[in-house]
Amino acid sequence: MAAGLLEDDDDQWDFIEKHPWAKHMVITIAILFFVASVSYLLWVDQPDFAPREYWVKVPGVEGLERSDDAVAAPTFNITLRVNTEGISRAVCGRGDRVDVAYEGVPLAHGDLPDFCVPPATVGSIPAVASSEGLGLPDELYERMERQRRRNERVKLAVHVRMHEITGSRGSPLLLSCTAILHGRPKGPFLCEVFGLPRHLETARGG
Ligand SMILES: *[C@@H]1O[C@H](CO)[C@@H](O)[C@H](O)[C@H]1NC(C)=O
Repeated sequence: MAAGLLEDDDDQWDFIEKHPWAKHMVITIAILFFVASVSYLLWVDQPDFAPREYWVKVPGVEGLERSDDAVAAPTFNITLRVNTEGISRAVCGRGDRVDVAYEGVPLAHGDLPDFCVPPATVGSIPAVASSEGLGLPDELYERMERQRRRNERVKLAVHVRMHEITGSRGSPLLLSCTAILHGRPKGPFLCEVFGLPRHLETARGG
């Protein structure tokens, strides 16, 4: 048995010595395989996952009057906050748009600008959402006023879209957020995050 194995080995070496290209080919394939494996691992385990924590504030509003009395269109100054704690490089987003709704009725929309947030901070990105018509439709105005009078919370649904953000690998991001216009607690309430590739979801909390 041992003799047979040695003979086989000798045969192999003979083959390689007689055909130097065979050795080069084996080495080339090994190098290609190694490079491909390392690239794949670097791509999969890329440490710069997208931020998980976003919230919005509405520092200024106007035009939320009854439409007959209004002199301005509903306008919302919005601040998107992005928490980059635990992320070791700047996070940049390619902005798309913001949409503001109250009780399921779209009220205003606007552009979200492109932005960059330094690592390990909470960045603020300002945006303005507005609409065309003056004031609020009567029914919506009444509902908002009723909530205010009863000291109930007046909640806005703010949807924020980006074309992509650092760590999303080209995927668009949708944030579904709640902002409190009136009442307590004022939050902040973290946005629900949609659109990150599935394997990045597992980085949540990591
Ligand atoms: C919104 O912000 C701008 C400045 O960025 C300010 O001039 C404007 O008065 C604000 N509007 C409201 C309704 O707070």
